[in-house]
Amino acid sequence: MFDPKKVKKDFPIFSRKINGKALVYLDNASTSQKPKSVINALTNYYETFNSNTHRGIHTMSEEATAAYEDTREHVMKFINANLPKEIIFTRNTTEAINLVAYSWGEENIKSGDEIIVSAIEHHSNLVPWQELCRRKNATLKIIPIKKDLTLDLSAYEKLLSKKTKLVSISAMSNVLGYMPDLNKIIKSAHKVGSIVLVDGAQSVAHMKTDVKKLDCDFLAFSSHKMLGPTGVGVLYGKFEILSNMNPFMFGGDMVKSVEQHKAYWNDLPWKFEAGTPNIADVIAFDAALTYLDKIGLENIHKYDQKLLKYAVSKFSKYEKDGVSLILPTFKSSTSRSSSTTSNSSSSTFDSSVTSSILSFSIKGIHPHDIAQIFNDEGVAIRSGYHCSQPLIEHLNLSSTARMSFYFYNTEADIDRAEIALKRTLKLFKN
Ligand SMILES: Cc1ncc(COP(=O)(O)O)c(C=O)c1O
Repeated sequence: MFDPKKVKKDFPIFSRKINGKALVYLDNASTSQKPKSVINALTNYYETFNSNTHRGIHTMSEEATAAYEDTREHVMKFINANLPKEIIFTRNTTEAINLVAYSWGEENIKSGDEIIVSAIEHHSNLVPWQELCRRKNATLKIIPIKKDLTLDLSAYEKLLSKKTKLVSISAMSNVLGYMPDLNKIIKSAHKVGSIVLVDGAQSVAHMKTDVKKLDCDFLAFSSHKMLGPTGVGVLYGKFEILSNMNPFMFGGDMVKSVEQHKAYWNDLPWKFEAGTPNIADVIAFDAALTYLDKIGLENIHKYDQKLLKYAVSKFSKYEKDGVSLILPTFKSSTSRSSSTTSNSSSSTFDSSVTSSILSFSIKGIHPHDIAQIFNDEGVAIRSGYHCSQPLIEHLNLSSTARMSFYFYNTEADIDRAEIALKRTLKLFKN
């Protein structure tokens, strides 16, 4: 197991002070911080071999191409894909999902078809499918959420039919930290002949992802949430499916040959990477993957569970002061859940279905005010809809405050958040 206090030293940003206090960064679900090795990889590219890829035969262009393609190989191994051709670089998760919605969706979705998403989706895994359904006169179906804030998988089984062409589901909710049973969801979808896209924006940074074991057809995720630079996303797709898809963007690099009135597409994966790619950031993403390999995704997952349990034990003490924790299967004497059974002041939740995110609200205090006071204390948290407006509204909230952890956070960081919480309660309740 790694030492979180030691690894924190690898991240230059933690020497920063906010409002005179050492930075406590609990907004990792938005974007993670970057270790020195990633920052160095970025400067090294610009200082020593800055060139375009796939275009020149001069030394630096060859070096840039090799480094860019090395990252692709690394991503392939990282998620246990079969081939580098199955890895397409995009700008982010959002673009990866849109790529599928256009390239696959335009050809494969017809009037009367059905697409299934769930009630926990980020806008990026909802709006592209709303739009595809609108363009094609197809129907969007939504897996409902139960009172314990887990998905209703029996309702899901009933939504599936021969009309289902795609199930697109988040592996980890950015509001609840909830991880649905993907194996079950994917198996059932395949039984009716539907393909499955997994939105791994949150999950790939926090636990081992094996696309072969999962048997998902597509997986989308972002480098910036897993120590890498912004501006790089990944779309994994099964080779046969990607081979049969047409490109979504057209121009240089994605063509093999061009006549005046016709063009012939390049091979996979380049047919989906039109124009000069984000070379520097893709190359630096390799350093992020190397760092994560060293720490170990299994270790990160275990540590996440530990930190979340610690945060829940700290924050649940303030339920009597109007603090509500918004996480699946959470039970306490003052819980919102009707399935509450506990009659003591202690609280429980199933940490095997939840990870690294703790949303909360405080009765009578707007989450933006909470985030402001936390910031005064040097603690960065997020407040708002978290790009999941339908879910937040379903929870009958206007927005939430959210703490999200990564392996460089410590119990001491959560203690600092508790101090900020106490200050918030004191300021507003007096
Ligand atoms: C679950 C989920 N899906 C998709 C996204 C979109 O990621 P990006 O903004 O990197 O495209 C996010 C971002 O927070 C997310 O949490």
